[in-house]
Amino acid sequence: MRSKKSIIILGVILSLLLAVNTYAGGHDHDRPVKKGILLVAFGSSMPEAQISFDNIDKRVKQEFKNVPVRWAYTSSIIRKKLAKEGKNLDSVASALSEMMDQGFTHVAVQSLHTIRGEEYDNLAHTVRAFKTMPEGISHLIVGAPLLSSQKDMENAVSAIINNIPKSRKKNEAIVLMGHGTHHPSNAFYAALMFHLQQKDPNVFVGTVEGTPEIDDIKAMLMKKRIKKSYLIPFMSVAGDHARNDMAGDEDDSWKSILTKAGIKCEIVLKGTAEYQNMIDIWVDHLKVVMDQLK
Ligand code: CO
Repeated sequence: MRSKKSIIILGVILSLLLAVNTYAGGHDHDRPVKKGILLVAFGSSMPEAQISFDNIDKRVKQEFKNVPVRWAYTSSIIRKKLAKEGKNLDSVASALSEMMDQGFTHVAVQSLHTIRGEEYDNLAHTVRAFKTMPEGISHLIVGAPLLSSQKDMENAVSAIINNIPKSRKKNEAIVLMGHGTHHPSNAFYAALMFHLQQKDPNVFVGTVEGTPEIDDIKAMLMKKRIKKSYLIPFMSVAGDHARNDMAGDEDDSWKSILTKAGIKCEIVLKGTAEYQNMIDIWVDHLKVVMDQLK
């Protein structure tokens, strides 16, 4: 008698569990597939920087026709600055929750960062959190930033070499300004310089907030008795760092430091996202993700 009762109870529990399961499973699978792309940049408050973002936006829309493209900025400082001007840019979290509400089921999140640094790590963590959300975006994958593999390194090196201004003579230097970070990924900048110098020994890579520092670069230029250098940002946009820390007139700008050392400086104010061959690298990463979402 007692065992019959427990079998009935067990049966009830089992069918309840099954019902819940079928409901959840069925609910998820019944949702129509809705694909989207979320492009994620550090951001910039400079209107001039918008060229870079527009270039990428145009290129991505050309490549993936009919897939809605959204944007998010990872820098909260930049977002706050822009909000004061009435421009409301999404964070990764706000963009993803909006896409979630709009019924997106498959989203490619493409990082437009340069290295796998802190900004990228935070992006990956945020995406991971969204993945575990009930009724969330079921297929959510992050695309790698610019320099993520040895292949990327080779592609970036060829693009950089190709983008060197035609007026530059071989005995003149090309000095790239990377952002730099305390994150271990900072090592990518020195690695990039190594690979660039295999192709062109007078190309140098320094950083504003990491190493190699401008003083290291200055010492290398002086050792090689370089008399003239092109200063070019190695950041997606030619924003605040490029215009002030690199090309500004203050004593501590790269231009001032090198000029004082007897090196003539020529400034190129163009971010990496203003060159199609650089954008190609990010778009290739996005293609990989879009294939995985199929
Ligand atoms: Co900075």
